[in-house]
Amino acid sequence: MKILLIGASGQLGGELLGHGDGHRILAPPRTLCDLERPAQCAALIADERPDVVINCAAFHDLPACESDPASALRINCIGVRALARACAGADARLVTFSTDYVFGGARSVPWRELDAPQPLQVYGISRLAGEYAALAEAPAHALVVRTCGLYARRGSRSRGGNFVLARMREALAGERIGMACEQVVSPTSAADLAIAVLALLVHPDAGAGIYHLVNEGACSWYEFTCEIVRLLGAPAEVVAVDRGARSGAMRRPRYSALANTRAAALGIRLRPWRDALAEFIESTAPGGAPLKS
Ligand SMILES: NC(=O)c1ccc[n+]([C@@H]2O[C@H](COP(=O)([O-])OP(=O)(O)OC[C@H]3O[C@@H](n4cnc5c(N)ncnc54)[C@H](OP(=O)(O)O)[C@@H]3O)[C@@H](O)[C@H]2O)c1
Repeated sequence: MKILLIGASGQLGGELLGHGDGHRILAPPRTLCDLERPAQCAALIADERPDVVINCAAFHDLPACESDPASALRINCIGVRALARACAGADARLVTFSTDYVFGGARSVPWRELDAPQPLQVYGISRLAGEYAALAEAPAHALVVRTCGLYARRGSRSRGGNFVLARMREALAGERIGMACEQVVSPTSAADLAIAVLALLVHPDAGAGIYHLVNEGACSWYEFTCEIVRLLGAPAEVVAVDRGARSGAMRRPRYSALANTRAAALGIRLRPWRDALAEFIESTAPGGAPLKS
């Protein structure tokens, strides 16, 4: 497949490049394909005629989205809509990513692909708008992949790292780590996600629409942090903190774990989050930290 990869410098983009053997992947920098310049992206798609456009770019700094909703909508919705329109015009498939933060409210079982969204902050609203825009512009071409809590050795570009790398640093420094126990998520290895996305793209029955791709299972950020500390064998103390599902004035979903039902029906599922985390820590910890079984 000829793939045009937008956002290749990010953590998921890097993993797609690393796992894309057998495909021809074009990875233009933001200067050549900027979601804030929709005409530029559309022209590139029309010129290159890729089989697939994979869009890993997003404005996903949550507080920044809250204070700058116009940029959030411009990048996460209007930019995505332009990609979808260009893809439909060039008969290319579009894979674009979205987030567990399209969901909100009370829940205790993982959200399925067709459950009703209820975004609680500007970020989630802009991502949901982007989903609708992509599916409306390219109903036969757009695959919207919702995921959650990504981590990779290369941290997130726009978030300046990721949760696992930050907790590893704190744990190895022996810090006392206060962590939210009321927010339940499905933390996901970006490498596992990249492999699943590429499998989806070559699957003959993977149609357009919404997919949930996450490592299986659910945990609170507190439980996830405890597991990081345990696997490292680090001398840190983890303290459960109930933040009332808020960061300052911004609301966060209490339960945003995702259920992969649609890709799983095609035989594409990610391994349990504990297994993915254990492998990541084993391969990432400085000097090969002791790995507890
Ligand atoms: N990280 C998570 O925990 C998480 C959770 C749920 C969903 N997701 C979604 O998964 C996808 C990949 O996330 P990630 O963590 O890999 O992101 P990331 O590391 O922050 O990378 C974002 C990428 O987007 C590019 N970019 C930003 N603004 C752009 C624009 N206006 N035009 C073109 N490119 C632009 C960045 O390029 P530069 O190098 O130029 O900055 C970078 O390559 C995103 O849609 C994200 O929202 C992530």
